Amino acid sequence: MNSSKEIVVSGIRPTGNLHLGNYLGAVKNFVQMQHEYQCYFFIADYHSLTTHPKPADLQNSVKQVLAEYLACGINPDLCTLYVQSDLKEITELYMLLNMHAYKGELERVASFKEKVRTQPDNVNAGLLTYPVLMAADIIIHKALKVPVGKDQEQHLEMARTFGNRFNRIYGKDIFPEPFAFNYGNQLIKVPGLQSEGKMSKSDGDANVINLIDSPEIIRKKIARAVTDAGPSEPNSTPAPSVQNLFHLMKMVSEPDTVQKFVQAHADCSIRYGDMKKQLAEDMVNFLTPVREKIATLRADEAYLAKIAREGAEKAHVSAAATMKEVREAIGFPKF
Ligand code: ADP
Ligand code: TRP
Repeated sequence: MNSSKEIVVSGIRPTGNLHLGNYLGAVKNFVQMQHEYQCYFFIADYHSLTTHPKPADLQNSVKQVLAEYLACGINPDLCTLYVQSDLKEITELYMLLNMHAYKGELERVASFKEKVRTQPDNVNAGLLTYPVLMAADIIIHKALKVPVGKDQEQHLEMARTFGNRFNRIYGKDIFPEPFAFNYGNQLIKVPGLQSEGKMSKSDGDANVINLIDSPEIIRKKIARAVTDAGPSEPNSTPAPSVQNLFHLMKMVSEPDTVQKFVQAHADCSIRYGDMKKQLAEDMVNFLTPVREKIATLRADEAYLAKIAREGAEKAHVSAAATMKEVREAIGFPKF
């Protein structure tokens, strides 16, 4: 691994299946970053414990996410891909950072306040200290760049705070400042099928196309996608729901095909049924290789175990080196 490259860390919570929005909006960036940076990507299974998943479900989702990321092109030869709970150093740094993380500042974090509102019966200490654990994930590898969505920016700010505070208290320059990162104008937004906004799990399964959806399911979901009554005048602007279908088509269909339907809309000859059929077929062709790869990988537990084991070993080298500095700085004696 080339140590002169900038260090990137990102964690993915093992929640459900990846959808087309996650793939085109996030995972494709990770795949590109592997070539440009020294990347650590991990499955944040400790973080998912705040909602108390059943052991069998947790195990299944970690394996599923691992298979999906590999199928999308995350390459363990180009990056370090591991499961958070395999990296024991994380728990140690988390505990040590907690000694300098204050109740008041943690209670002011927006994501915590939201959980207090939405799940008042389960406001556990893990939720309160979620940003401390996330800071440990990031600074243990001395990351500079963290590819995450806007909603994570406050957590990044806390990671900088905790790292700087540690440096100051112990008079050492161990942790550099990490910042949220995206590819700027290359950011894309994949639209949903039922809503006018982005494709998102929170708007229900009919709104998203999952990478593992079968051809039948994809055809059904697209057939049921919202449209308008059709153009009544030449060159009229389609309703947002129809524009969404055009957007999706641009992502998976040939430019000639898109042009044909754009033209048909402009001259009012379009039949949305035909457009949806075409979109469904192109979507199926686009996703079939990924779906098949996910299934093959998911069935190969020995391979997944090997990837996770090797990833943990690679991550351990970097984490152990940082923890040596941290332990010395704190003053644990070296006997
Ligand atoms: P969801 O909204 O379905 O819960 P997440 O919030 O878990 O998805 O998103 C995980 C990652 O996928 C984030 O980096 C986010 O920016 C990206 N992402 C999610 N939905 C879309 C979308 N429709 N278009 C582009 N990127 C998306
Ligand atoms: N909190 C992030 C999320 O909800 C997941 C995460 C955990 C993470 N640790 C991280 C992201 C470290 C980036 C870096 O999506």
